[in-house]
Formats: sequence, structure tokens, C-alpha cells
Amino acid sequence: MSNILYEKQLAYLSSLRNPPDALLKEMEEFALEKKIPILDWKAAEFLEELVLIHRPKRVLEIGTAIAYSSIRIARHLRKKALLDTIEKSKNNITLATEFIQRAKLNSSINILEGDALEIMPALEKKYDLIFLDADKEDYEKLFYYSLMLLKKHGVLFIDNLLWHGYAAARTVPASFSKSTKIIREFNKLFISQTSLRTTILPIGDGIGLGVKV
Ligand SMILES: C[S@@+](CC[C@H](N)C(=O)[O-])C[C@H]1O[C@@H](n2cnc3c(N)ncnc32)[C@H](O)[C@@H]1O
Repeated sequence: MSNILYEKQLAYLSSLRNPPDALLKEMEEFALEKKIPILDWKAAEFLEELVLIHRPKRVLEIGTAIAYSSIRIARHLRKKALLDTIEKSKNNITLATEFIQRAKLNSSINILEGDALEIMPALEKKYDLIFLDADKEDYEKLFYYSLMLLKKHGVLFIDNLLWHGYAAARTVPASFSKSTKIIREFNKLFISQTSLRTTILPIGDGIGLGVKV
């Protein structure tokens, strides 16, 4: 799989990384072994910093997987702040629940079980920060739902917008051609949103950052 950074820069940044604690390390190794995609560690550090800067009271995550990013977000929330995280895979919900219990974050992370395409239109209260990290073919609809659920000055954080480097590549392997097309179309839609101040950052797999204006 392609990477958006040169190997040398990646190795250099990895050599500088503050080692994760035992639970995060175990989760990163588990995700790698089971081939469950989770947020790149550099993007996760950036997300934690955004949480510290923005100090959200209510956060929505779309795509929990094993709760790696949920735990990283929740650890940096203020007291009484809450993270709702949506997941449709029963297997991932079981894994996420176990990891959240081990992280002792049951009181700040709430898993909403089911398809975000059905759950989001029924949500009423708005959020200060929304992290979109679900199936790429759902991105456009989930993006519009996110816009509706985001407070003014709220932050939208979207993963995979450089799509393993393929979004900007001249040749794309056949197995990535459909998903790359979806991401390229999505990026145009994201960047042209007038209700957001947007940028796409070359962190991790490419982070779309939007602030509602
Ligand atoms: C990339 S993983 C999430 C990784 C997680 N945010 C992390 O960084 O630790 C995507 C997850 O979203 C879930 N998912 C994809 N589309 C979804 C949808 N429409 N509704 C709910 N969950 C969805 C998948 O089952 C998968 O577990």
C-alpha cells in the first residue's frame, strides 16, 4: 500500500515519537494484526491537540472500530464532556466496549450502535467537534449530516482524504480505482463548502479540517 510521506521522513518522525502507553500500543498492534484500519498515530496526536485547543463539550465520531481514536479523544476531554461514537459492526462494537472498559472511559464514551446513515438524521443536539472516519462510499451523505449537526465554529475532522497517496497519484491500482474516484470527488465537495473554512493537511492518510463559519 502506498504512503503519503517519503519513507525517510516517516522513519525520522517515528524515531521522534513519544512511545504510546501500554493500552494504545496493544491496540495499535491488535489493529495491525487483525487488519482493522485505525487513525494514523500522527493524525491521532493532532486530533488530541485539537481537542485540547477547542475544548469541545460534545464530540461525535462516525466509525468507532476498536475505539482507538475514541479513547485518544476521550482522554483529553474536560470533565462532563461527552463523546458519542457510531459503529455498525457488531464485532467491532464488542471489541470497542472491552477496550473502553479497560481504559475506564465508560462514563465519557457512548457507543451508538447501528448505521450512521440512519442514526445521524435522528440526532437532535449539535456537536462542537465531529470526526468522520467511516466507509468512503458513505462520506458524501455523512458529510452533509455532519454539517447539519455541527455547531457554529465547530470543527470537522475527516480522515483518509489523501487515500494512501492514491488521491494524487497518476496511476492507481484497479482495487483502489473506485474508492480513489470517490475520495477525489469528495475532496472537491469538501473544499468548496461555503459554510466551512477548509483545508486538507498531509498528516497521516490526509486530514480534512473544516471550521463552520
Ligand atoms: C476506519 S474505521 C474507524 C477507525 C477509528 N475511528 C479509529 O481511528 O480508531 C471505520 C469504522 O467505521 C465503521 N463504519 C463504516 N461505515 C459506517 C456507517 N455508515 N455507520 C456506522 N459505522 C460505519 C466500520 O465498521 C469501521 O469499524
